[in-house]
Amino acid sequence: FRLNFIEDKRYEFIFNGLKTTLIITAFAVLIGIVLGFIIAMIRSTHDRTGKMKILNAICKVYLTVIRGTPAMVQLLIMYYVVFAVHDPGKMITAIIAFGLNSAAYVAEIVRSGIMSIDQGQFEAGRSLGFNYRQTMLLIILPQAFKNVLPALANEFIVLMKETSISGYIGITDLTRGGDIIRSQTYEALLPLLAVAAIYLILVMFLSYLVGKLERRLRSSER
Ligand code: ARG
Repeated sequence: FRLNFIEDKRYEFIFNGLKTTLIITAFAVLIGIVLGFIIAMIRSTHDRTGKMKILNAICKVYLTVIRGTPAMVQLLIMYYVVFAVHDPGKMITAIIAFGLNSAAYVAEIVRSGIMSIDQGQFEAGRSLGFNYRQTMLLIILPQAFKNVLPALANEFIVLMKETSISGYIGITDLTRGGDIIRSQTYEALLPLLAVAAIYLILVMFLSYLVGKLERRLRSSER
């Protein structure tokens, strides 16, 4: 009976798991981009002007802690410590944990992109009458973004695969979905291979989209 039950549910585990993985990844990427850009702005404004000392110090601590501890441990702390009393739901917990994790990596990627832009571009902006903010937004960031696109794409690929640890706080994501099928059917090869293939297809599709975007952005250089 158990085997038949699970056999009917196999595709549900995979599809619902995939949906969960995609939702967690999408929202975590969103948090990562927004927070990562803000941190990168604070850090590079400090680098270039010496302002925002306190904010910069806070960001530095944040980056050090997040990048210095495993995402796995951060997820567990988020679930069992931070949200132990006021539980916003497992999905929200995971999204926040992965979002905060990714933001640290995005921040350093964007900051390196901003630093890669020649100081002369700043001076050019200022001599056109732009203030610091306008120069940053209109001249520096668009160029920096183009340079860091491959690194950013890589970050989001890593992030998507990293969400496979969501099972540790009881979320049935794609990985956990496949693993449940394995444990219930005693059949390991097919479910796990299917899970791997789905991740692979997602990553290849993402790479394809980013490649296209990259070519489009570069076409303005010719
Ligand atoms: N597995 C690594 C860790 O536990 C990577 C974390 C996520 N990485 C990322 N670029 N968002 O620290």
